[in-house]
Amino acid sequence: MKDFKGKIAFITGGASGAGLGQAKVFAKAGMKVVITDVRRDALHNAVSEIIEYAGCTAADVLPLCFDLTCREAYTDAANTVEKIYGGPPHLLVQTAGVNSFGPIEASTFDDFDWVMGVCLDHVVNGLVIFVPRMIKAYGGKDGVPKEEFHVAATSSMGAFMGGAGTGPYSAAKAATNNLMYAYSMALRPYGGGSTVLCPANINSNIGNAEKYRPEHLRNTGYHVSEGTMAHLNSIHAGGIDPIELGEYLKEGIETGRVIVMPFGPPDNWMNMLRDNHTTIEEYVLTEVERNKKIEERMAERMRNMPNDAPPMAGWTVPEGAEAFGSARKDLDYIDPSRNPRFG
Ligand code: NAI
Repeated sequence: MKDFKGKIAFITGGASGAGLGQAKVFAKAGMKVVITDVRRDALHNAVSEIIEYAGCTAADVLPLCFDLTCREAYTDAANTVEKIYGGPPHLLVQTAGVNSFGPIEASTFDDFDWVMGVCLDHVVNGLVIFVPRMIKAYGGKDGVPKEEFHVAATSSMGAFMGGAGTGPYSAAKAATNNLMYAYSMALRPYGGGSTVLCPANINSNIGNAEKYRPEHLRNTGYHVSEGTMAHLNSIHAGGIDPIELGEYLKEGIETGRVIVMPFGPPDNWMNMLRDNHTTIEEYVLTEVERNKKIEERMAERMRNMPNDAPPMAGWTVPEGAEAFGSARKDLDYIDPSRNPRFG
């Protein structure tokens, strides 16, 4: 997506931190910006900040207050956007997130449900609600859209490494990355794109997230206090500026990148990523060795097989069966080249 002017952006978590930075950047690029958040006051202040930064008017910023984990409320929000701005967003940026840290073995269902609910389920909600609408409104054929469109999510460097103290968060972010890779492949035939933003540390309010953890998910296994929040806030104060981060995302979308990974200080993130990848590489190499043995065993079996043996079961569709993996037949907006397709 290269041309943002006059198009619609829908940004979750837009009242604060990374989401607010993105809203400012895309509003300045000439987009109408919908910002959603669960905190009404913060949302209200964000509107004024966006208008001031981007030099736009109140008609260009639509604040919507609801809990993104509620599918009915999210669907209502999507309908409201279409009613007010005349169509679904061209750019969906799902950034809302919370974190809560503690030993994975102390985690409760509430810890998993809250963190994974906001960090992963809300991303799923937005994709399921908006992608069909975006394809119908803007999707084209053979990789050429009717109008440019793009989906994005803010994940984390944590997506690339599990941590004993960050379990639910890292798991949600890893799954978010995987989803966004899938959408990048799926949207290509329609001319759409997908980007996942993986920052390390952002100067934001996420250190205070525990303060608005919903009542029904408050049974945490972690030690949470004003002091632990103050510690987190001191770390995030050294993170990347949200507007600078928003510019990174915009550039990533413009250049069609699937992963955008701005580092910011400290740059020893690179070493952590390398370590992680070296470990994976070592496992892969071990697998290559093992697979060689499997291949040799298979070749030996083939050599010893009588000539009239039936072919080995493969991926061909047996007579009377139907290939799996296609869309329901009444979904007429699905590109036929994706019917069936597994990649
Ligand atoms: P932030 O706390 O400043 O902004 C997140 C916003 O999401 C808040 O305004 C909050 O009210 C909203 N939100 C939370 N739960 C919600 C719900 N159920 N429904 C609607 N809105 C909800 O935090 P930040 O850091 O800007 O977070 C943005 C994203 O960046 C998150 O996905 C986070 O995981 C990710 N991230 C943050 C990093 C950091 O160092 N702060 C590092 C890497 C990724």
